[in-house]
Amino acid sequence: MDLLKLMEREEIERLRQQIKYHDELYYVHNRPEISDYEYDQLVARLKELESRNPELIVADSPTQRLGDRPTERLDKYEHRHPMLSLDNTYSYEQLREWNERCAKLAAGQPYTFVTELKIDGVSIAVIYIDGWLSRAVTRGDGTVGDVVTENVKAIETVPQRLLVMPPGVREVEVRGEIYMPNSVFARLNEEKRFANPRNTTAGTIKVLNPRLVAERGLRCFFYDLYFDGKKPFASHWQALEWLREANFAVNEHSRRCEDLAQVIQFCELWRIGRHKLDYEIDGVVIKINETLLQEDFGMTSKSPRWAIAYKYPPEQAVTRVRAITVQVGRTGALTPVARLDPVELAGTTITRASLHNKDWIERLGLKVGDWVVVEKSGEIIPQVVRVLIERRSEVASELSDFVMPASCPVCGQPVVRLPEEVVTRCVNSSCPAKLKNAILQYASRSGMQIEGLGEELVSQLIARALVKDVADLYGLTVRQLVMLDRVGRRSAEKLVEQISESKGKGLDRLLYALGIPYVGEQKARLLAEHFRSMDALMQADIAALSEVEEIGDVASRHIYEWFRNRRNVDLIERLKAAGVQMEYKVSRRGKAFADKVFVFTGRLKSMSREEAKRAVESRGGKVSSAVSKKTDYLIVGADAGTKLDEARKLLLKVLDEEDFLAMLRASEISESSEN
Ligand code: IVH
Repeated sequence: MDLLKLMEREEIERLRQQIKYHDELYYVHNRPEISDYEYDQLVARLKELESRNPELIVADSPTQRLGDRPTERLDKYEHRHPMLSLDNTYSYEQLREWNERCAKLAAGQPYTFVTELKIDGVSIAVIYIDGWLSRAVTRGDGTVGDVVTENVKAIETVPQRLLVMPPGVREVEVRGEIYMPNSVFARLNEEKRFANPRNTTAGTIKVLNPRLVAERGLRCFFYDLYFDGKKPFASHWQALEWLREANFAVNEHSRRCEDLAQVIQFCELWRIGRHKLDYEIDGVVIKINETLLQEDFGMTSKSPRWAIAYKYPPEQAVTRVRAITVQVGRTGALTPVARLDPVELAGTTITRASLHNKDWIERLGLKVGDWVVVEKSGEIIPQVVRVLIERRSEVASELSDFVMPASCPVCGQPVVRLPEEVVTRCVNSSCPAKLKNAILQYASRSGMQIEGLGEELVSQLIARALVKDVADLYGLTVRQLVMLDRVGRRSAEKLVEQISESKGKGLDRLLYALGIPYVGEQKARLLAEHFRSMDALMQADIAALSEVEEIGDVASRHIYEWFRNRRNVDLIERLKAAGVQMEYKVSRRGKAFADKVFVFTGRLKSMSREEAKRAVESRGGKVSSAVSKKTDYLIVGADAGTKLDEARKLLLKVLDEEDFLAMLRASEISESSEN
């Protein structure tokens, strides 16, 4: 390769990273650092370079994903009915006033309410034509939204196809709220790149990349329904029931209320209860249940008169930052943490708050000693959202600037911040903090599944120098373990057994467990599937790596580099010597149909009933002889019996043999050579 080409290649890579970085600031954090013009210049330059080097174009290049910014690049669609917003209230007083207005409008007709949790996500309209998901549109300005169909199709809980089309109806429109579960957010946000689940959801849904949507575990609750543009049922509650039966996720906590007292009770219940949910809510939506009355009431300029949101005041507290300390994660990322004067927030006393990274601190303008506002947002750890500048004069003499340490607070080695990254990292691979987190990752449920290897135990193992890398785990003995604090003989024996069992978990789990940069669960599986053995993977060059589905330029470079590091190669050798399997032969089939209930009717052409049953069971599913509400799939062969009618009545998922075979193939990641 000549020098010019090499330089262009590097520039392409750099531009892609820059664009991704700015996309994330723009879409996810809502805080662009460059003007649209500057952004467009970057994209234009990348396009120019790529057109000169077409062999370097990869599917995940920003030029392939998007033309311009999403608001321009996404197709527009005008909503059949405007997507309205809601009137808000923070007091029961105002809620009563709203109810009085409703009573007046109802002019003596009786009415009831439906109360629903107000999911803090992004609203979406999904349109099915002749039973097929044909379009998904964001709220946009309420009249015109962005078309994000492919992304919404990638949301697991959104049906692609309606099981039953209501007779005589061509278009079914459902509306709801897309959100990211807190647990997913916490996992995704280990490196503290995103502000909160809602913004992450909003950003994700607008990046034209269905894989990203799937990877980020978005979900959706539905609460609105139209058949050919009209509300089809006499009550909102019936609409929810239809949605539920048609396999749409409807929030299970929605209730019917007879009067305002019950409504208020519901609001009070969730004021505290909401902290136990795995998603964020910012209030309760109260709707008049009767469709005819809804139509009578009509709307104001932007919100319906028949619904209102009772909002909980944000969970915020005011306290002082006494110090800023720095934590080190598995990847070596240094995360600044504010140490606070203890303060009550959302039912717990907090003393720490996340500050994400140095940029975040700078944006806040935070100094040690400041009075600040802290807020909970989808994470267990609250974050500092604002500095109370107006209280600076009280504390002026005690203020000091935060300085990111030049060396790792745990191991003392110098830290590095790469130009394109927001995080500062400790790059010492034997840093105890990294080691601890590396062991936890190795033992994790998605990794080698070593139960009983918790944080406290790992700390002890490291402190006593029993474990210097993950390979040392395989040398641990019951005798060594019982010497540790709070470890009994039985649990020591169990742990040794668990560790030994982990040797056979297979290449895909191992790759994830090793914590190779950019290799999450999904990529680990794809790599394992592609290369089949550790040796083959280790020999792969960057080009060979980037041939793997979903492994882009950046990832392949990092993976390649990881295997060029002597320490990592040594570690793999030691794991091999300990007996850890390095081949891809573990079948993940056990999981694919976990807990799904199948019923068969009619004759299958390609296999016997018995074979079909085994195929389902070997993937973790169950086969039942009768159709019921618990049935997940009815598989229909030739000459189907009455089960089909029953299933139709219950609006169950009905698949033909072809569909079933496709499901089997999709779940067959590999055949275990041992069974
Ligand atoms: S009903 C005309 N129900 O809140 C009715 N909205 O502040 C409009 N939201 O744009 C919406 N959970 O994105 C409704 N259970 C729920 C909701 C909900 C969240 C969102 C929705 C809406 C916004 C209004």
